[in-house]
Amino acid sequence: MTVAVSSSPRTAAGRVVWFTGLSGAGKSTLAAALHAELSVRGVPVELLDGDAVRENLSKGLGFSREDRDTNVRRIAFVAGLLARHGVTVLVSAISPYADTRREVLGELPRPLEVFVDAPLDVVTARDVKGLYLRAIAGDLPHFTGVSDPYEAPPQPDLHLRTDRISVSEGVRELLRALGEE
Ligand code: PPS
Repeated sequence: MTVAVSSSPRTAAGRVVWFTGLSGAGKSTLAAALHAELSVRGVPVELLDGDAVRENLSKGLGFSREDRDTNVRRIAFVAGLLARHGVTVLVSAISPYADTRREVLGELPRPLEVFVDAPLDVVTARDVKGLYLRAIAGDLPHFTGVSDPYEAPPQPDLHLRTDRISVSEGVRELLRALGEE
């Protein structure tokens, strides 16, 4: 009896979900909630969060355009490595420049660009880290949305208005976009 055995390797199904938006818009919150949900479902998933990246991979970088672009390119490099090994990578970084996002996302497998959007007055009122107050007072130069640009994605794959929907509604939309409902 002949038994057919397939020797082809499993196709890696990794991809990169890129959360972009102002500080305090809810990128990290949504990414962490999605991470928890995908983990429960057994999906190999990793989180590259702006703050953690800046304490490690991008330690020493500031907030000039050049440094932000370097930060974003480093994140994309690591995200690409992981995704090509079957990991769903959740990136949470302001990544304020549209050109740079387009460039890095264009080189990533199955990227999903998620615009985490809340108006400036809302994130300023939230001011979770007290940074907007300092920026408006002029104590924090180059602060995104106040004294530094944020270029919203013209055509994001998903646009989440976090002043209008709850975290669980956001996660539901993300799961739908990922085909994971
Ligand atoms: S970027 O633009 O993608 O390189 O920024 P990112 O790595 O996501 O880092 C953003 C977090 O750094 C804190 N922070 C500032 N943000 C914006 N502008 C200035 N000048 C700044 N200085 C410090 C801030 O806490 C951001 O965190 P999030 O999670 O976005 O609130």
